[in-house]
Order: sequence, then C-alpha cells, then structure tokens
Amino acid sequence: MKEKTAVYPGSFDPITHGHIDVIKRALKIFDRLIIAVLENGNKDCLFSSAERVNMIKDATKNMRVEVESFSGLLVDYLRKKKTVFVVRGLRAVSDFDYEFQMAIANKKLEPEIETFFILTDKEYFYLSSTTVKELARNKANVSSFVPKNVQGALKRKFM
Ligand code: PNS
Repeated sequence: MKEKTAVYPGSFDPITHGHIDVIKRALKIFDRLIIAVLENGNKDCLFSSAERVNMIKDATKNMRVEVESFSGLLVDYLRKKKTVFVVRGLRAVSDFDYEFQMAIANKKLEPEIETFFILTDKEYFYLSSTTVKELARNKANVSSFVPKNVQGALKRKFM
C-alpha cells in the first residue's frame, strides 16, 4: 500500500507542546509528516526560519517527520512534495474562521487538497506561540509550554 504523507504547515515561531501534540496525533493517521515552516509570511517572526527548523528538528528527533522551510503558496509546495494532505491544529472557536478560509482558498487553488483538523488537547487549548513569546519576554517560566531546547532559545533571545 502506498505510504500516506501529510504536510503540517505553519509559522512555528516557536514550536510549542501544542504543536507537538498535533504532530504525535497526526502520526497515528499518516505514515509520514512533513513539517513545513513558512519562511517569510505576513508575520514578523522572532526566530529566523533556519532557527525555527532547527528547533523543530531537535524537538521531534525520534518521530517519523521531516522538517523544512517553504516560501510561496502552500499548494505549490504540496505539489512539489506530491501530496494533497494538509494537517492543521484547531484550538478554540476563534481559530475556525481563519482555518476555514485557508482550507477553502487552498481547495479553490487545488481541488484535490484535503485539510485535516486535529483538535488540540484540552491541556493546550489556551497555548499559542504568541503567548509563549510574551511570557518569555517578561521572564516568566515557560517550561510547561515548550520543549527544553526552545526554552533555552527563548532565554537567549530575551537575555
Ligand atoms: O502558523 P500559522 O502562521 O497560522 O500558519 C499559516 C500558514 C503558514 C499555514 C499559511 O499562512 C500558509 O499556508 N501560507 C502560505 C501562503 C499560502 O499558500 N496562502 C494561501 C492560503 S490562505
């Protein structure tokens, strides 16, 4: 049977335990997951795309994942990777509008695309990279929100 590969795209600025929970659960469905870090989207990122990729690689060492950055349209990246499956995490209702728009836009561009939403574990419902950065910037302890390597990277950024 053909291996099923999905792409999990995002900014991951930085990766959190919420993202890792989505990755682990997506791997119960797909054989392989490509974590695709958006290089220069609309957002001003704290970490460079190389830093974000390296942090994810470090945090997902023993998982069936590949990590790389991409630029341009997600649909073009999916074509390059020869898959039509996209994974996204869904937290509160507030995520829905944005995610719905993106999924529909992608499907308009490439009708074969299927977006799979994984509901965030209740533990990470409130968690976002933005919150983590805000806490770290103000020297709060973020050990329960991000992997150890990311904790260190945040500390160095806000030293
Ligand atoms: O973690 P984020 O910032 O919510 O991820 C957003 C991301 C990277 C999935 C989205 O911005 C994206 O796919 N950007 C690539 C450009 C694109 O394809 N846009 C059309 C879909 S709206």
